[in-house]
Formats: sequence, C-alpha cells, structure tokens
Amino acid sequence: MEQAKKIKISIIGGGNLAFQLARVFTSNGMMPSQILVRNKAFWDDFEPFCNEVILKTQQLEACDLLFLAVNDDAVSELAKQVKLTNTLIVHTSGSLNANAAACPENKYGVFYPLQTFSKVRFPDFNEIPIFIQAEDEKSFELLKIVAGKISKNVQLANDPMRKTLHVAAVFVSNFSHALFAMADEYLKEQSVPFAHLHPLIKETVNKAIETDLYHGQTGPARRNDIKTIESHLKMLEQHPEKAEIYKMLTSYIYQKYHRDKHE
Ligand SMILES: NC(=O)c1ccc[n+]([C@@H]2O[C@H](COP(=O)([O-])OP(=O)(O)OC[C@H]3O[C@@H](n4cnc5c(N)ncnc54)[C@H](OP(=O)(O)O)[C@@H]3O)[C@@H](O)[C@H]2O)c1
Repeated sequence: MEQAKKIKISIIGGGNLAFQLARVFTSNGMMPSQILVRNKAFWDDFEPFCNEVILKTQQLEACDLLFLAVNDDAVSELAKQVKLTNTLIVHTSGSLNANAAACPENKYGVFYPLQTFSKVRFPDFNEIPIFIQAEDEKSFELLKIVAGKISKNVQLANDPMRKTLHVAAVFVSNFSHALFAMADEYLKEQSVPFAHLHPLIKETVNKAIETDLYHGQTGPARRNDIKTIESHLKMLEQHPEKAEIYKMLTSYIYQKYHRDKHE
C-alpha cells in the first residue's frame, strides 16, 4: 500500500465530511496537500490535517485526486472553476450523478462513504462502506487504492444503486435522528431526562440489525390499541407538528399490519 502514500490528495470543503476525510487520510499516512476552506473561522480545525489551508480555487496546486466535499448544489460549478488538468475530481454525494463533477480537462468520479459525519464524532472508517465510481478504469483503480487505505469495505456502486442507498440512509439516519430530537424536546418540557430512553434506543438499533424487521415491530399501532393511540394524541394536542407525525407513522404501521396483511 506504499503506492497510496505517493498519491497527492487535496480537498475542497470545510464541513463535516471534509474534516473527517482530512483526519482519516492524515492518520493513514496520506495527509492532504491542500484543503480549501472558504470560511477562515474553521482554518484552525484543518491546519493539523494538511500541508496548507487555502481560500480560493486559484491557489490549488496540481494533485492526483481532488475531493469536492461541499454542498451537493455547489459541486458542478466548483468542478468548472478548478483550473487543474489530469486530476481525478470526485464528489462525495449520495444523490448526484457520477458525472456531476465532469469537466473536459480532468476525470470525474464519486467517493461516497455511507455514514453520518459531524466534526465531534470519530467513527471507525475501517468499518464504513465506501461506494466508488469513476469515469475510466485508471481513475477507478486510483480511487480503489485510496479508499482501500482507510476502509476494508470498498464497493463499486452505479448511480441508481448509490441514490437508492442514499434514500434508505435518510430514513434510517436523518429521520430517526429527527425523531430522537423530537422525543428529547417533548421530554424536556415535562422535565423528564432523555437518558431514560438510551437503553431503548440501543436495543431498537440492535434489533433492527440482528432480527427480522417485519416481526420486530412493536407498539400501539402494531397491536391496534386504539384507546392508547387516542390518549397519546390527546397528550400531543399542544404539539400539532408532533401529533401530525405521530398520526402519519401510526397509519403507516397500521396499514402494514392490519389492513394489507392477513397474519
Ligand atoms: N455529513 C455526512 O454525514 C455525509 C455523509 C456522506 C456524504 N456526505 C456528502 O458530503 C458533502 C458535504 O457534506 P457535509 O456534511 O460535509 O456538509 P457541510 O458540513 O454542510 O459542509 C459543506 C462545506 O462545503 C462548503 N462549500 C459549499 N459551497 C462551497 C463553494 N462554492 N466553495 C467552497 N466551499 C463550499 C461549505 O462552506 P461554508 O461553511 O462557507 O458554507 C462547507 O464548509 C455533501 O455532498 C454530502 O452529501 C455527507
């Protein structure tokens, strides 16, 4: 894997994923050469993990691999602004087409790590599936080397597969996080600690991974306990948004177990 250390990597982006990539590449002997962070307030975060933090695309030096770890909407425009040649430019998005970063002077690709990243958590990259895709075989091989240096789970995914995974990831991660936050908000109003739910959260996640999802569902909608559902909705009268979500998910579970299916 000495090959990987000779690959010159740069990153554009000062957010969650850019930070985690910079950190994990550095700790695996592939410190990024330059990282473009347009908000100087975040430069301190990135300085330990690259040779140089820069402000503008004009400052980018030649590199083998450039990551665009930026908002999805910025990817295409940025790829066109970059004045490099013979560089493999990859975006990190689950939902953009692979060629979103295409431009005539460079090759394009995708490097999509399927995990939720923030700057304050340090997930074990080795366990994170990284879905890669590239314009040609040589670029794909380069990505395979770099991804293989930080994860033992590197896979090829075409656009439809990656986009499908992204929708599923929004359900399991972003939506469940929003539901946790909703529960926390509700409990705070009644001065009940969220920590009482920690074992339940852990068991729910473990059960989803380890057992059959259909049979694992529990709760009032699953049992069709109508009086309990009504009493919950009464308790949520002062929280119309939460009540709406409660009704929507209750109806989803009810349809699944009591209308469409004869168990
Ligand atoms: N976080 C995750 O869990 C995760 C997981 C897998 C893939 N991804 C993908 O990774 C990409 C980045 O996500 P993120 O979570 O890291 O987002 P983020 O934390 O919001 O960071 C986005 C960064 O992009 C910068 N940026 C936006 N437009 C730019 C431009 N024109 N020039 C230079 N910098 C620009 C932003 O700068 P400002 O702060 O100045 O606006 C910010 O630093 C997205 O494509 C996302 O789909 C994210």
